[in-house]
Amino acid sequence: MIVIRSAGELVTLREANQIVARILHELAEDIRPGISTEMLDVKAERLIAKANGKPAFKGYRGYPKTICVSINEQVVHGIPSPDVIVKEGDIVSIDIGVIYKGYVGDTAATFPVGQVSDEKKRLIEVTREALYAGIRQARTGNRLSDISHAVQSHVEKEGFSVVRDFVGHGIGQKMHEEPQIPNFGRPHLGPRLEAGMVLAIEPMVNAGSYEVRVLADGWTVVTKDGRPSAHFEHSVTVTEGEAEILSLLEVGERRIPV
Ligand code: MF3
Ligand code: CO
Ligand code: CO
Repeated sequence: MIVIRSAGELVTLREANQIVARILHELAEDIRPGISTEMLDVKAERLIAKANGKPAFKGYRGYPKTICVSINEQVVHGIPSPDVIVKEGDIVSIDIGVIYKGYVGDTAATFPVGQVSDEKKRLIEVTREALYAGIRQARTGNRLSDISHAVQSHVEKEGFSVVRDFVGHGIGQKMHEEPQIPNFGRPHLGPRLEAGMVLAIEPMVNAGSYEVRVLADGWTVVTKDGRPSAHFEHSVTVTEGEAEILSLLEVGERRIPV
């Protein structure tokens, strides 16, 4: 069952997602050569506490940290560590989740560090575009796989591949709710989208093959071929028109795209 959220619930989901949107932007400012991923995690945990939230990831299936930081060939679920130091030329994906007043916010983005290769630049751009292509399909009347198909089409048109083993998801009182949202598939299949559904759409895009494996730490997902990967995620509400991107940072009247 896909839950339809009331206007009141959407207010809280908006608040939860604005918290993670704001903190993601604050973390992005700190990404520079020499910083450890542990320092980013510590800052995230402090800012979440200050916002009266709780980290959604810490303790989730035993995950030990507040954020996931995945660098270069790491796809998702990189565990922050004092031993992992960001360097010039890296691409750094940060995923952050919060529980606020019983509702979950979840967003992610990939950032370049200094000068990065043209391939990495294009990978980031295409992954962001694929997310927005998916979001454009999140409207009443469409079916779930219209999102999946739009993401895959954009990525493959640009010569990259979408990860199969991890998917987007419904989100609300739990981080992972129904439905699962693959980033690939035929269009016009699956449940019809309805106003009030809240979806976390999150393409993971590889420069090379889509195949991934999990490192011995039990969490870090890397590309099998060692080529780079990027990840963007927004939590959105389906409406009759354009989806509302709950995790798009709002500063006064301005909405700031990642
Ligand atoms: N936030 C991730 C997602 O987008 C899930 C992180 S798993 C955790 O679905 F264990 F790190 F929490
Ligand atoms: Co996430
Ligand atoms: Co998610």
